[in-house]
Amino acid sequence: MDLTLKIWRQKGPEQKGQIETYPISGIEGDMSFLEMIDVLNNNLVNEGKEPVAFDHDCREGICGMCSMYINGRAHGPVQGTTTCQLHMRSFKDGETIYIEPWKSAGFPVVKDLMVDRSAFDRVIQAGGYVSVNTSGNTIDANAIPIEKADADKAFDAATCIGCGACVASCKNGSAMLFVSAKVSQLALLPQGDVERKTRALNMVNQMDEEGFGNCTNTGACSVECPKEISLENIARMNREYLSASISSEK
Ligand code: SF4
Ligand code: FES
Repeated sequence: MDLTLKIWRQKGPEQKGQIETYPISGIEGDMSFLEMIDVLNNNLVNEGKEPVAFDHDCREGICGMCSMYINGRAHGPVQGTTTCQLHMRSFKDGETIYIEPWKSAGFPVVKDLMVDRSAFDRVIQAGGYVSVNTSGNTIDANAIPIEKADADKAFDAATCIGCGACVASCKNGSAMLFVSAKVSQLALLPQGDVERKTRALNMVNQMDEEGFGNCTNTGACSVECPKEISLENIARMNREYLSASISSEK
């Protein structure tokens, strides 16, 4: 298929960016979206031009690196799918495709389609972990019985890949879905009890410090999330936050 690509080009964080147009042909429906960009970059390099910078790693939907806006939607037109798992058969021959980076105060553009998502790392450092006794009498995690319903909910929350689509698609640039998934995966399990009184407080405080906006329950985050993380996690995080706030006042 032949396509016209309209791609955001920006040399660096301080430079002004703009959309540039690239015609491309010979694209197969079975190619992934990133393979299509690989073809474009090969062409650009052969023409002596600067290739388009974009993030990727696993290319199998698990690392969350391949974050970009495609035709105005985070990760493109197919629901529950990362950009690397999106195939060109989802587009029509002759189509014009707009490709842009996440645009959110919490994710400054590094170059072209790449953004800096280290704010998420700092939120995790603030509380997205469990303390484990390593003195020689550690209990095997699998030896602790957990209700199936809780295990399933914790697993669903843990499928968050930290891509940032929730932030990018929120009109407030809120990171509540991401943070709530990370709080929930630990809050639902006994292993998460050690930091229960501080986790939600510390992670939410860090989220605020990073400049992410507030949640106003529009739900775009969950709709655009490639892992379809449920808004139920935000409600759980709010409960964890409230009970941690009360405990910290005692
Ligand atoms: S909640 Fe969904 S959209 Fe947000 S970072 Fe996790 S996987 Fe990505
Ligand atoms: S490259 Fe890892 S999720 Fe897409």
